[in-house]
Amino acid sequence: MNLEGKVVVVTGASAGLGAAFCKMLVTKGSTVYGLARRQEKLDALGAELGSRFTGIPCDVSDEKSVNAAFAVVKEREGRIDVLVNNAGLGIFGPTEKATVDEWDQQMNVNLKGVFLCTKAVIPAMKAQNAASGFGGHIVNISSVAGLMGNPNISIYNATKFGLRGYSDALFKEVRQDGIKVSCFFPGSIQTDFFSTAGVPIAGNPMTADQITSTLLHVLETPDNYLISEIVMRPLRPQG
Ligand SMILES: NC(=O)c1ccc[n+]([C@@H]2O[C@H](COP(=O)([O-])OP(=O)(O)OC[C@H]3O[C@@H](n4cnc5c(N)ncnc54)[C@H](OP(=O)(O)O)[C@@H]3O)[C@@H](O)[C@H]2O)c1
Repeated sequence: MNLEGKVVVVTGASAGLGAAFCKMLVTKGSTVYGLARRQEKLDALGAELGSRFTGIPCDVSDEKSVNAAFAVVKEREGRIDVLVNNAGLGIFGPTEKATVDEWDQQMNVNLKGVFLCTKAVIPAMKAQNAASGFGGHIVNISSVAGLMGNPNISIYNATKFGLRGYSDALFKEVRQDGIKVSCFFPGSIQTDFFSTAGVPIAGNPMTADQITSTLLHVLETPDNYLISEIVMRPLRPQG
C-alpha cells in the first residue's frame, strides 16, 4: 500500500509505540487519527504533527466510546485504510495477588478493545474492496508474551495469546475480502509500558522507532503480499 493520502487509525496513540507510529505515518503523507484516553497527550502530539493528525479521546474498552470515535473518522473521511490495534497494558504479579479489576482491565483493553475497533472498520474495508479491489490492513500488536508464558505475567500472557488466536482467525476470515491482518510479537521496547506493569524494564531493549520501521515495511507491501505474523526481539537483552 502506498501510504500517501491513506486514512489510518492508531489506538494507544498518546504514548510509546502508538505515538511513534503516528509520527511515521504523518511523515508518509497519511491522514492519521490517534485514539487514546489522555486528551492532553493527544493535543501535544497534534501540536507536533500538524493538521494530518487528529487526536480523538477514546477508551477502546468502551463500546460507545469506540463507536463514537470511528463515526467521526467515517463521517470526515468516508473510508479507513489502516487500523493499528496498539492500545494495551500489562499489570504484572503473581496470580494470587492479582485482582479481578486487573484481570478485567487487561482483558478489556488488550482483547475486547481490539474486537470493538476491528468490528468498527470491517464494513468500511469490505466496501472499499468491493469498490476498488483492495479493502485495507489491520495490524494487531501482541507481544512475545503472546507466544510464551512466563511467571508473574499470566493475565497479560492470556490476553496476548488470545490476540494471536483472534488475529489468526480474522486473517482467514477476511483475506478474500482484500483485507490484510498482521500480528506483531515484539519483545521489550523502551516505553512507559513497564511503569504501568510495575516492573523495571530489562536492559538493552528495542526502540519504538525500530518497531515503527517494521510497521512501515509491512504496510507498504504489495496488495497480494501479506506478512501475517512477525516476531521482533533485541539481539542482546540484558537481565
Ligand atoms: N513496551 C514493550 O516492551 C512492549 C512489548 C510487546 C508488546 N507491547 C505492546 O505494545 C502496545 C503499546 O504499548 P507501549 O509499549 O507503547 O506502552 P505505553 O507507552 O504504556 O502506551 C500504551 C498506550 O495504550 C493506551 N491505552 C491504554 N489503555 C487504553 C484504553 N482503555 N483506551 C485507549 N487507549 C488506551 C495508552 O493511552 P492512554 O493512557 O492515554 O489511554 C497509551 O497510549 C501494547 O499493546 C503493549 O502490550 C509492548
